[in-house]
Amino acid sequence: MESQQDDIQSFVGELRKIVHDAANEAELLSLVGPLVQRMVQKRSWLSAEMYEADSELGYGTTLLHAEPDQSLFVVVDSWLPGRGVPPHDHDTWAVVVGVDGTERNLFWQRLDDALLPGYAELQLMGERCITDGEALLLPSGSIHSVINETEHTSLSFHVYGRHLNFTERRQFDPENNLERPFKIAPRASHGAAGAQLP
Ligand SMILES: [Fe+2]
Repeated sequence: MESQQDDIQSFVGELRKIVHDAANEAELLSLVGPLVQRMVQKRSWLSAEMYEADSELGYGTTLLHAEPDQSLFVVVDSWLPGRGVPPHDHDTWAVVVGVDGTERNLFWQRLDDALLPGYAELQLMGERCITDGEALLLPSGSIHSVINETEHTSLSFHVYGRHLNFTERRQFDPENNLERPFKIAPRASHGAAGAQLP
C-alpha cells in the first residue's frame, strides 16, 4: 500500500509539473500520454476490487487522486462485457491508457452551431480500439463513445484536466439529435470516488 501511495504521489507530482510547464494543451497531452503509460506499466496501484462494476450502470470507477482545487482527476474505470457509454465530451482534456482488455472508442464531430439548447447533430468520424498500454489522447472538446465488446471486464486508467464532478460535460444521442448534461448518479462502491463516468 505504501508503494501504491508513493507511486501515485510521484505520478501526481510529475503531472502537476507538466500541467504547469506545458506551453499548450497539445504539448501537455504529448507529455501526459507517456507518463500515464509508464504509470500503467508499474501495476503497483492495481487492485482486484478495481474490476468490480455496477451491473446497472455497466461500469465501476475507482478514484486514485483528485486535487483540492479540482484540477487533475485520476481514476481507474472498469467496463462490464457488452457495456459502454454514449457519445459525450469531458469539458477538459483527457488521457486514457488501456490496462486490461480492449475498449472500442468511436469519435464524433459536432456539426451544428450548439446554439439551440438540447439540440446537437453529430457525425461519426472514426474509431480506435485501445488495449493494454495503448494511450488515447483526447483534447478538450473531443466527443467519444466507448464500448467493451469483449467477454471480459475491461480496465483502463484515466487522467482528466479537471475533476469530472465539476465540469459541464454533455452527453449526446446522435440518432435523435439530442444533447443533455452528463450528470452523475451516486455509486456506493469504492466510496471515495463518488460516481464518475468515463
Ligand atoms: Fe469519456
